[in-house]
Amino acid sequence: MTEKLFIFDTTLRDGEQSPGCSMNLDEKLRMARQLDRLGVDILEAGFPIASQGDFDAVSAIAAELRRPTIAALARANQLDIDRAWAALKDAARPRIHTFLATSDIHLKFKLRKTREEVLKMISWAVGHASSLCPDVEFSPEDAGRTDRSYLIECCHAAVEAGATVLNLPDTVGYCLEPEYEKMFADVKASVPGIGNVILSTHTHNDLGLAVANTLAGVRGGARQVECTINGIGERAGNAALEEVVMAIFVRRDVEPVHTGIHTEELYAASQLLIHLTGMQVQRNKAVVGRNAFAHEAGIHQDGYLKNATTYEIISPETVGMPANHIVLGKHSGRHALANRYRELGYDLTKPEIDRAYELFTQLADRKKNVYDEDLISLVNESFEHNPELYTLKLLESVASSEGRSTATIELERDGQSFRESATAEGPCDAAFRAIDRITGTPGTVVDFSVHSVSAGADSTAEVSIRAQFQEMDFTGKSLSYNVIEAAARAYLQAANKGVYEIRRSVRHAAADGRSIHENELVDRLFPGGY
Ligand code: KIV
Ligand code: ZN
Repeated sequence: MTEKLFIFDTTLRDGEQSPGCSMNLDEKLRMARQLDRLGVDILEAGFPIASQGDFDAVSAIAAELRRPTIAALARANQLDIDRAWAALKDAARPRIHTFLATSDIHLKFKLRKTREEVLKMISWAVGHASSLCPDVEFSPEDAGRTDRSYLIECCHAAVEAGATVLNLPDTVGYCLEPEYEKMFADVKASVPGIGNVILSTHTHNDLGLAVANTLAGVRGGARQVECTINGIGERAGNAALEEVVMAIFVRRDVEPVHTGIHTEELYAASQLLIHLTGMQVQRNKAVVGRNAFAHEAGIHQDGYLKNATTYEIISPETVGMPANHIVLGKHSGRHALANRYRELGYDLTKPEIDRAYELFTQLADRKKNVYDEDLISLVNESFEHNPELYTLKLLESVASSEGRSTATIELERDGQSFRESATAEGPCDAAFRAIDRITGTPGTVVDFSVHSVSAGADSTAEVSIRAQFQEMDFTGKSLSYNVIEAAARAYLQAANKGVYEIRRSVRHAAADGRSIHENELVDRLFPGGY
């Protein structure tokens, strides 16, 4: 039996902090539950000092998930570490992950500290974290560009102070595989007491080498790997969890380790993250991309049909990817839907099935064939608990190649209907402007993507929008056979979140006795009071 490799997922920390990937508390909890189903060993839930939202997410995940270790990130100072520990207080298995840069470039330009000062900070921070929590990870940030003998001193200081895990990050994605592998071998050979500590990889994809370097780190002796679903993360991203796991699984004939990941949950995890963030993966993305199992060339198809292993090293079922079956039509009942979801690996409760069925019938009314991909998008949508201040009752859209487009929108709020029209250069923009007129809160779309959920001309459109309201970012997603309608619904979802959040901050401000510009805002947003 090979050795166990611990999978440390940082989708909700290193991944979530990258542009376009932010999630709210409810979204982070949904993702965390899927990561738990996937079987990750350690789940880094956030950076509690960074914001109240991060603190709340770490606390909620720590309180709910009992199986995986829950890690929280902290810089090497008391405030950060104490805040991380406070967020982890209800965790069954807490881990404080503290870090400090160690490369000369970072010391000189970022920290403005000497090597001696940094060494002392490491000892103090790891010692303090260990006095609070039995499981402490230390990361010498930019280890990949740190002078090797100084790196060994830093690792020694951390181990002496009580670190249980030493993570050696290639923070800027600069290392080549042999270098990264040797760093682990050197640390393993030279740091006293290293035998009781787990070594960990953390790689970034700036040169497209994150997964290859992760595997190299494992060859060098790492027994924990840090990665994210779909490889999301700073700049070019982190090592993609699904790629690392499948490389180890497929090449178990040569890899020295195995993981505890339930590979059949990989596709669902990837799809859920796409749904929550609106960040698509490319079609040819390894393991979870739409084309990952498509065989197009005649010679490939011929070989594949004779025996799948001629051109397929992983079967789609192994990663939980559904075959592109026409599954259901408008006459299919609730029972057939529940069965299909069960076959796809979704064990839905009765209310979840009811909600999914409602969305399914709406879709099936307008689309002849409903595919597995449609069902997965629907179920992701049906789990959403978004504020529904305004609901869409009607959309009329007139688009022309010759001039401006017009949209008429009717929204309902608390039983009252509001109707407005607007014109703009395009039909989506016209619909957004009409919504703005009703809510009184104009938004600016900063990201807009349309994605066809299943194959064929009658494919469903999934629109993801990120929009700014009062300088805050909100996301919205919607699925429809009609692209303009999907866009309007996605924008309205973001607008509802925006209006809800503004309303909440106004309430807090009022409770704190602040009145200034918030009162004007209330008057403008809620002329009839709230
Ligand atoms: O890339 C990095 O160095 C990090 C550390 C905080 C581990 O994300
Ligand atoms: Zn990182």
